[in-house]
Amino acid sequence: MRQTAYQAEKRARLTKYVFLETFGCQMNESDSGRMLGFLSELGYVKTDTPSKADLILLNTCSIRDKAEHKVYSMLGRFKPIKDENPGLIIAVAGCVAQQEGAALLKRLAYLDLVFGPHNIHKIKEMLLAVEDGKRRVVETSFSAHIDGSEYLHTSREGSKAFVSIMRGCNNFCSYCIVPYTRGREASRKSSDILSEIRALTLAGVKEVTLIGQNVNSYGIGDGSELSFPDLLRAVAEVESIERIRFVTSHPKDISESLVSLFADEKKICSHVHLPVQSGADAILASMGRGYTRDEYIDKVGRLRALCPLISVTTDIITGFPGETDQDFEATMDLVRTLRFDNLFSFAYSPRPGTRASTFEGRVDAEVCSARLTYLQEVQREITLEKNSALIGSILPVMIEGKSKTDPERSVGRTGCNRLVSIPSSSHQEGDTIDVEITAASPNALRGLYRPRR
Ligand code: SAH
Ligand code: SF4
Ligand code: F3S
Repeated sequence: MRQTAYQAEKRARLTKYVFLETFGCQMNESDSGRMLGFLSELGYVKTDTPSKADLILLNTCSIRDKAEHKVYSMLGRFKPIKDENPGLIIAVAGCVAQQEGAALLKRLAYLDLVFGPHNIHKIKEMLLAVEDGKRRVVETSFSAHIDGSEYLHTSREGSKAFVSIMRGCNNFCSYCIVPYTRGREASRKSSDILSEIRALTLAGVKEVTLIGQNVNSYGIGDGSELSFPDLLRAVAEVESIERIRFVTSHPKDISESLVSLFADEKKICSHVHLPVQSGADAILASMGRGYTRDEYIDKVGRLRALCPLISVTTDIITGFPGETDQDFEATMDLVRTLRFDNLFSFAYSPRPGTRASTFEGRVDAEVCSARLTYLQEVQREITLEKNSALIGSILPVMIEGKSKTDPERSVGRTGCNRLVSIPSSSHQEGDTIDVEITAASPNALRGLYRPRR
């Protein structure tokens, strides 16, 4: 096909612009960072203005119906830009891309490229194919193993970085789309992970969050690899790393050796995100979570016994098919008993192809959202009480930068992952300082710098 004047001009230009929007979880955040890395090899830099872009790229999420809809409504807004500028490439990546594949191209005639999470490293060749006039590329293949070259590029924000240690999920919780959009579990080589972390420290990174849908099963299925606790120990040996976090731990797989690491390894932050989903055994069984209410309570008890200051957060779904008033009460009882430091809660959303989408006993949307609102109100109180209990204590806070709402203040995080705002000082991003907590709200703490004597 003959190149249009626009294509010829674009090829000749050294700098091209990409507008990138990321939806969903930390995996997608990290994948977007890798995409930008590969794109920089083609001369792309980021722009915040879609109309200025040569490439509009959406990295999408389909965890709930609402997340998927956001993608379609955003894409609709780009159609007029494409009408004005036919050389613009519009690409959809991430979980909606994987789920819908070619159907997306069929549905939206102005899309050029659709690719799934296992194909990020092919972004350069896919774009060149589109530019060369072989319009409309779909790449949603899965690969069973991770090749080191897929993770040449990393993603970081100032002194913090997310590092993917694995991808996919084998759990197939009955409500969840992730195993279908991200494929089966596969772990990266620990040597690659450690080299990435060492390289990040040279760029000033002091805190890493190791990410995976189920980090506790890191290395399982590969006899030659480290276990997850051993990987954490190895990361802790990287000298310039001061803080280590990880998400997400599945309650059924959290081991004794991991629990004791919280107490033994000072660099591991005292926060664990342990999604419970429901407090009713019948619902947990129907979700296929692999633990009972009592087993979950036991694990939290072990964590708190060994590490009394640990902050425990969770995820809860309300209105799962078959959830009765009593089941919901059991969840509320668990929330009041365990007093999570915080929780994320969601109304159940049926996802295509999942087992639960065929279950009977759908809960009325109004009941679902009334339960959600009530749960959130109760938790808000608990979070406020827990945050308020910290007033008067002195906690190490790692500075993240200026406050977005108040230029006179800086913000940082405690080891237990609470946001703290302090009056601005000469401290730099990445510095860890002692802060006396002086006030609390459900979302954040306020404090004052207390120099060490
Ligand atoms: N791998 C993580 C969670 C990934 S998804 C884990 O196993 O915990 C993040 C959260 O979204 C889940 O914990 C769950 O609470 C919620 N979620 C997932 N699928 C959902 C659905 N179909 N409807 C409502 N919430 C859902
Ligand atoms: Fe989804 Fe369950 Fe896997 Fe988490 S563990 S990603 S909820 S299937
Ligand atoms: Fe969403 Fe995919 Fe993450 S569905 S939550 S972006 S794994």
